Amino acid sequence: MSSYQFHLTPQKVPHVKTKFRTIKTKIPAPETLSLIQETKKYGPNLMHGQLPVAWNKAIDFNVFDKAGNKWIDFTSTIFVANAGHANPRIKKAIKDQLDSDLLHSYNYPTEPRVKFLKKLLQMSPSFCEKGLLFSAGTESTEAAIQLMKMYGQHKLKDKARIDIISFQGNMHGITMGAEMMKGNPKILEVYGFSDPHVYRLLFPYPWESGGDKKYDWKARFYKDIENLKKKGMRINKVCGFMIEAYQGWGALFYPKTYIQELEKFAKKNKILITIDEIQGCCGRTGKMFVFEHYGIKPDLLCVGKGLSSSLPLSAVIGRKDILNLPEISGSWHSTHSGNPVCCAAGLANLEEIEARNLVKESARKGKILFGGLDDMKKKYPKLISHIFGSGLLAAILFKHPKTGQPESEFPTRVCELAMQKGLLMVHTGRESIKIAPPLTIHDAALREGLKVLEESIEEIIQEESSYR
Ligand SMILES: Cc1ncc(COP(=O)(O)O)c(C=O)c1O
Repeated sequence: MSSYQFHLTPQKVPHVKTKFRTIKTKIPAPETLSLIQETKKYGPNLMHGQLPVAWNKAIDFNVFDKAGNKWIDFTSTIFVANAGHANPRIKKAIKDQLDSDLLHSYNYPTEPRVKFLKKLLQMSPSFCEKGLLFSAGTESTEAAIQLMKMYGQHKLKDKARIDIISFQGNMHGITMGAEMMKGNPKILEVYGFSDPHVYRLLFPYPWESGGDKKYDWKARFYKDIENLKKKGMRINKVCGFMIEAYQGWGALFYPKTYIQELEKFAKKNKILITIDEIQGCCGRTGKMFVFEHYGIKPDLLCVGKGLSSSLPLSAVIGRKDILNLPEISGSWHSTHSGNPVCCAAGLANLEEIEARNLVKESARKGKILFGGLDDMKKKYPKLISHIFGSGLLAAILFKHPKTGQPESEFPTRVCELAMQKGLLMVHTGRESIKIAPPLTIHDAALREGLKVLEESIEEIIQEESSYR
């Protein structure tokens, strides 16, 4: 993790005025300072690692502060605004729902809930026959964990079938079940235990093949399964795999042969597969769902974030026989699930994605994005170790030019300098920068953002000789 701290006192920076960016004050803008300070004063220190930009409004692919500064957004807040910020169709749907005087409905039947779910299932693969709605992504991963356990116990009629296999370091949210899946040692220490019914595979990082295109990922999968067996895992006790669609911080996809072997293994052993698509769903990677890149057929999908491009909305969708288990009926009371305003926003979002062909647009614009990033990697081979991702999701991984080791301070400084120039990117605090603009971004704005990123890299190299 980088120890570099973003400047919280206004820095004098060159002014910028283009069609897509305006920087006309010191950054952070002096008139937004009190808001930044009060955010810290009244809440926990959520600003740690967060770029000090006080958002006043966000429209399409731009973010504005109160001082009149305007940024190109390469974050979609945090992979949410797939259909663009404050999308007019979504805003209208929300306003219409507000005017209908139904703002909350608990689990009662409502038109927005039914229309949204129907549309979601219509745009999903055919195995998705039903859906359970929630507000936060972490609720949906939590529900998927329970569903897989219920399936093992009741459908497979084996009380002992409650173990889950996940991947060390994957992201599934911040509730306890999700944390158990992730296996972050610091968080497990906070809880004081690690769930003995969770076994974590090591993530198959692409660099582990050492560049060998014939590297045997199938063998690697079975080797890691054998290692789990040595830790006590018994295959006939496992009910499900919980898999983040790609490992978030580095947009790291699984090798196709690895994940296809995992699928074969799962089917052979009657183990369910849940793909956590919360970050990558709804067109982000150039396909409606990330799992489509792998040529596999999971049983459950967790979706969220870009599902509404705005209000809190998440879901577990999947096979009817799992979502119809009698054990779940009546046991899923989430006060805000299927909220009518959120569902109206979700429906409008899905309609917008369809009407504007945003999934295809994401794939097309991804070629511009990765063209630019690949050129940067060629220009800075000593600093950039990898470019990963797909569609309008990318991660740039940095290494220190002298040691070749993962480098986290450089990307932090790049994020800050780019922000001072009018570009927002996802700061991970690790050796990566993530890029995820709204799928509606103009080609010219995407190209301009890439130019700002390259300028920022170049300027920091010029400033700091150790990076040369
Ligand atoms: C892959 C993945 N799963 C789950 C979550 C949790 O979603 P939420 O923050 O909406 O609870 C996230 C959030 O970043 C995520 O990226």
